[in-house]
Amino acid sequence: MATIKAVTFNTYTKPSGYVLADLPKPAIERPEDVLIKVHAASINPVDVKRAFGILRIFDPEKFPARIGYDLAGVIEAVGEGVEEFKIGDEVYVRLAEEERGAFQEYVVASANTVALKPTNLTFEEAASLPLATLTTLQGLLAVKGGLQGKTVFVTGGLSGTGAAACQLAKNVFGAAKVITTVSTAKVGLVDKLLGEGVVDEIIDYKTTAPGKVIPRGSVDVVYDTVAEAMSYLHLVKRGGWVISIICLPSGQNLKGLFPNIPGWFCSFLDMAFKISQYRASRYGVNYDSIVLVPKKEELLDLKRWAEEGKVRPVVGQIVPFSDFEQVKKAFTDIYNGHGVTGKTVIKIVE
Ligand SMILES: NC(=O)c1ccc[n+]([C@@H]2O[C@H](COP(=O)([O-])OP(=O)(O)OC[C@H]3O[C@@H](n4cnc5c(N)ncnc54)[C@H](OP(=O)(O)O)[C@@H]3O)[C@@H](O)[C@H]2O)c1
Repeated sequence: MATIKAVTFNTYTKPSGYVLADLPKPAIERPEDVLIKVHAASINPVDVKRAFGILRIFDPEKFPARIGYDLAGVIEAVGEGVEEFKIGDEVYVRLAEEERGAFQEYVVASANTVALKPTNLTFEEAASLPLATLTTLQGLLAVKGGLQGKTVFVTGGLSGTGAAACQLAKNVFGAAKVITTVSTAKVGLVDKLLGEGVVDEIIDYKTTAPGKVIPRGSVDVVYDTVAEAMSYLHLVKRGGWVISIICLPSGQNLKGLFPNIPGWFCSFLDMAFKISQYRASRYGVNYDSIVLVPKKEELLDLKRWAEEGKVRPVVGQIVPFSDFEQVKKAFTDIYNGHGVTGKTVIKIVE
């Protein structure tokens, strides 16, 4: 039986406990499936959170568990019902929950989740985009009335999601002003990595509290990637929005993705969400917390924006799959939550 190398975990663990396993090479089982030879896969915080067991209450792992959602690669085989792709097509994807396993040599995915890779990007760049950019897109689309001409404050402008948010807000949705925070060493990198004029005001959050230097009531939208949403309510204009991708989502929202979520946990999340909404409403501000629901149409939009230069990948680090100690270190850096610039990509085909 043919086997492939795959990053797995056999118990809930930090990245130091990940295992490079030999798994059977996946095969097409459904007419809508495609078999992808993975060339590159990017790390997202949810990968390490899942492996640590954060979702175990409502989505327990079956061990050995595979890891990773974001990849770019080449179609190696197609199911009999697939007309959109042919062998040799270069594609990228945010894998569906049940198809997880980006950090491995081959993966089978439903063609309904896969899109042709942006033609101007390398596999590493394309793999860096889906999850973070689609989450951000859905977060910004949740702002009723859009962003045209507005002031948007993005926390963590050189994180995976923050880099996407600054670019989408300015280059795609026409925001007039983008403010962001980064740590000291990254201040000089913002224009270089995101493009001149994408960010209008950079705040070094290590030395300066954004809540003190941004004028009260001057921001239309806060896009929160670092769980500081409730600290910035006073900065938002009445009728403005705070969108968080990191604070607890509503239970109803999560139930759509994880139908097995226990009723008591769902109620707890709903209550926490309503408290945040209430706190925001005292400032006349709308509040929402987003969980990504991947949509193929949005992956196609993203391909176009990447090809038009409106969304540039920010890949801070590329790590070879063959060096498993480096791979585990790369996951550890994401687990620690600090110091990484943009996305970290594992190069599977070297
Ligand atoms: N709801 C969803 O569906 C969804 C989807 C994607 C991500 N998320 C969540 O959103 C969060 C961000 O994801 P990501 O992919 O952008 O993470 P990431 O790329 O790993 O970004 C982390 C970076 O943020 C910076 N940072 C940390 N604290 C900061 C602060 N207080 N202010 C400004 N920057 C700070 C750090 O750089 P420095 O140390 O240099 O500052 C760090 O390297 C994660 O918790 C993730 O799980 C949720």
